[in-house]
Amino acid sequence: MTVITNIEDLRVLAQKRVPRMFYDYADSGSWTEGTYRSNESDFQKIKFRQRVAINMDNRSTASTLVGQPVTMPLALAPVGSTGMHHADGEILAARAANRFGVPFTLSTMSICSIEAVAASTKQPFWFQLYVMRDRAFIERLIERARAANCSALVLTLDLQILAQRHKDLKNGLSVPVKPTLSSVINLLTKPRWCLGMAGTKNRQFGNIVGHVSGVNDVSSLSAWTSQMFDPTLNWNDVEWIKKRWGGKLILKGIQDVEDARLAAQSGADALIVSNHGGRQLDGAESSINALPPIVDAVGKQIEVHMDGGVRSGQDVLKAVALGAKGVYIGRPFVYGLGAMGEAGVTKALEIIHKELDLTMALCGKTRLDQVDKSILLPGSYPT
Ligand code: GLV
Repeated sequence: MTVITNIEDLRVLAQKRVPRMFYDYADSGSWTEGTYRSNESDFQKIKFRQRVAINMDNRSTASTLVGQPVTMPLALAPVGSTGMHHADGEILAARAANRFGVPFTLSTMSICSIEAVAASTKQPFWFQLYVMRDRAFIERLIERARAANCSALVLTLDLQILAQRHKDLKNGLSVPVKPTLSSVINLLTKPRWCLGMAGTKNRQFGNIVGHVSGVNDVSSLSAWTSQMFDPTLNWNDVEWIKKRWGGKLILKGIQDVEDARLAAQSGADALIVSNHGGRQLDGAESSINALPPIVDAVGKQIEVHMDGGVRSGQDVLKAVALGAKGVYIGRPFVYGLGAMGEAGVTKALEIIHKELDLTMALCGKTRLDQVDKSILLPGSYPT
């Protein structure tokens, strides 16, 4: 087997091992996938200034996210259906994140439930909330996150309606997998995955199934989303959720300076500059290009985090240089999970950490609080 040295190696291995409908679900964007692609390609346009003959000894990538210490300013993003990339995927990813000293965020649309992840991990994780029409269910979800000792609530604001991803429709994406001819043929080529899934009970949307009255079939994410997610979501709901939760609150899905101002006014602890990994508004600005104006407008009032297109420690450093206090990875850890389970998530974190540490040093810095735009080549970065 080839030696795994970067996130692309994990992606290639995951593509071999994970059933096509789940691999494609993660590795796609909406409609033309233009925003999905630009999230990555706009990082490539940014150049570093190479500095030399500077003492690079005694380095640290440690930081804090919403007041919580982290070994690097990175968190695992909420990813729906993570437990379909590997049996017990959310538990394995949470354990890897715990050991590495970075937060794991459990999606509302996870396979392993809040309770299952809490029972199998030792440290608090973060919980991502979608707002549904059924407010009693939301209240219960918030209470369940509190009971599980979750240390932050990540409220997603950019998916009150779901955009279209062509591959999900073409593949007949469903949880659990429906036994069509093409899905069965595809599963026959994934024996490792099948064996893992045969050995776990976590095979449905664990936070949902059995917790929402009258909803038994959650198998089609798009049908269920349009039935359950609340298209009327607005800033009054954010206020209501903030009061109900009472703990650290992070608002995810901000791309516009006006929305960033409203997020700062809401009293949340952090906002995440995000276009949902290019999975919602196709044609929106890349996240790294949307970041600087938002940092300028509200960076003194609220922690500004970002996600979208981060595939390396170099990307993390570029985002930090442009003012991100925190950076999230979604696909990179899901590739690691699909490729090698818990060890693959650890591998993804190790790869990104090493790239971040060495790149910071090659820019002549030994700590992240020394990092700002001055490490970037003028004219190469968005302003
Ligand atoms: C849900 O978060 C999705 O992007 O499918």
